[in-house]
Amino acid sequence: MADDDSLEILVEPNSAPVPDADRRKMLENPGFGNLFTDHMVLIRYTEGKGWHDAKIEARRSIPMDPASSVLHYAQEIFEGMKAYRLADGTTALFRPEQNARRFQASARRMAMPELPEAVFLQSVEKLVDIDREWFPSAEGGSLYLRPFMFASEVFLGVRPAKEYLYMVIASPAGAYFKAGASAITIWVSQDYSRAAPGGTGAAKCGGNYAASLVAQAEAITQDCDQVVFLDAAEQRWVEELGGMNLFFVMDDGRLITPPLTGTILPGITRESIMILAREEGLNVSEEPYSIDQWREDAASGKLLETFACGTAAVVTAVGTVRSGSGDFTIGVGGPGQLTEKLRMRLVDIQRGLAEDQHGWVKRLF
Ligand code: PLP
Ligand code: COI
Repeated sequence: MADDDSLEILVEPNSAPVPDADRRKMLENPGFGNLFTDHMVLIRYTEGKGWHDAKIEARRSIPMDPASSVLHYAQEIFEGMKAYRLADGTTALFRPEQNARRFQASARRMAMPELPEAVFLQSVEKLVDIDREWFPSAEGGSLYLRPFMFASEVFLGVRPAKEYLYMVIASPAGAYFKAGASAITIWVSQDYSRAAPGGTGAAKCGGNYAASLVAQAEAITQDCDQVVFLDAAEQRWVEELGGMNLFFVMDDGRLITPPLTGTILPGITRESIMILAREEGLNVSEEPYSIDQWREDAASGKLLETFACGTAAVVTAVGTVRSGSGDFTIGVGGPGQLTEKLRMRLVDIQRGLAEDQHGWVKRLF
């Protein structure tokens, strides 16, 4: 590893990439999470040796020994970020150093080695560069990047592993929710918790998502798009969705979002929205908000809008909240004015259509 923490990444271009015409066809309507580019990043870690053997090569299956410890004890973390084509044709990332830092925080919580920020950024940028032909042609498309790391040591004892594999794959992406969904319906999980105090809720580890899936399955049965989780101790406080943070727009100029108590993911979109909302003159408050208050404020009209936000979903209005005790509708049941305004402010910065006053957009080439 060099002094500045960067690592030489050996590039072996794919000798049989997807043919141009096939790729173009695939990129017309990519959906989310279905398609993958021609390359991937691989970097190994071995205790005592550190990070080594950094490579970009043709995307392929990876051999796994059945005793690889991730398969048994789930030592695994990931990130989700997007590369955008700006209006002027430049390719850019949005606050990628925040993803690098959250990846390090997740690693610490899961007793895994921290990947230096410079290596994280280098790996992602190189993959975007080599797979630059993979941006969707449809408007609103982006290249979704999935850096991840797992315990690759072949060992069944229960302790932090001594060997890890860090990888990055890329997936051309359109909208996360089905096209045309102007507002989502969410299911309140009353039987299952996602995270508990002292647990892993603030880390982006696969295990959190595994724990959320039975509730997500319930949501699908109830014709809902996402699950909203309540706090594990009292089943009273609204925390977040399975893959997004939540905001509540009140009629007195307040914008409420649940506080980061260690059980919810500190979203980068969440933080960006808080900054933009303050610039819009809103009184942003990180405070506990209960499910009963939510229902009551929706009925009385004190609550004007609710929206979810995250890298994959961007900013999406919540129209209806469904639970075992019935449904309630928020506002008109569709996207409200403020949701739309904040969404546009964020998207315009991400797409290079508005001035980037905060230095959030990292232009690559
Ligand atoms: N909460 C959860 C559980 C998530 O999976 C995500 C998505 O990454 C978010 C919140 C939003 O985080 P970000 O805005 O950094 O994408
Ligand atoms: C993301 O927004 O990047 C996530 O990881 C969430 C997931 C629902 C795709």
